Amino acid sequence: MSKFVRAAKVSDIPPGERHWVDFEEETVVIFNVDGQFYCIADVCTHDGGPLEDGRLIGCTIECPRHGAHFDLRTGAALSFPAVTPVPVYQVKVDGEDIYVESPDE
Ligand code: FES
Repeated sequence: MSKFVRAAKVSDIPPGERHWVDFEEETVVIFNVDGQFYCIADVCTHDGGPLEDGRLIGCTIECPRHGAHFDLRTGAALSFPAVTPVPVYQVKVDGEDIYVESPDE
């Protein structure tokens, strides 16, 4: 069973913005896309580069290193050079609090 951890406040992540959370296992990034929150691991599956500063295009993040695209909803690799999905974590919003599924479980 997944364990959810309070990671941020809704007001911390306005639409179009992102927020990093360090877990023991890995760092994750929460994105706000038009009021919907998505959470992925902060690691590109092509060569391990961080996705944190990648360009956000709708529900897609572009890796700043070699340009691979990932779907924030599913983690799917949408373009080369990445072919493996990036881990995604569930997000729950309860009032002003954002909870994410912990990668440590
Ligand atoms: S490290 Fe992301 S595309 Fe190469």
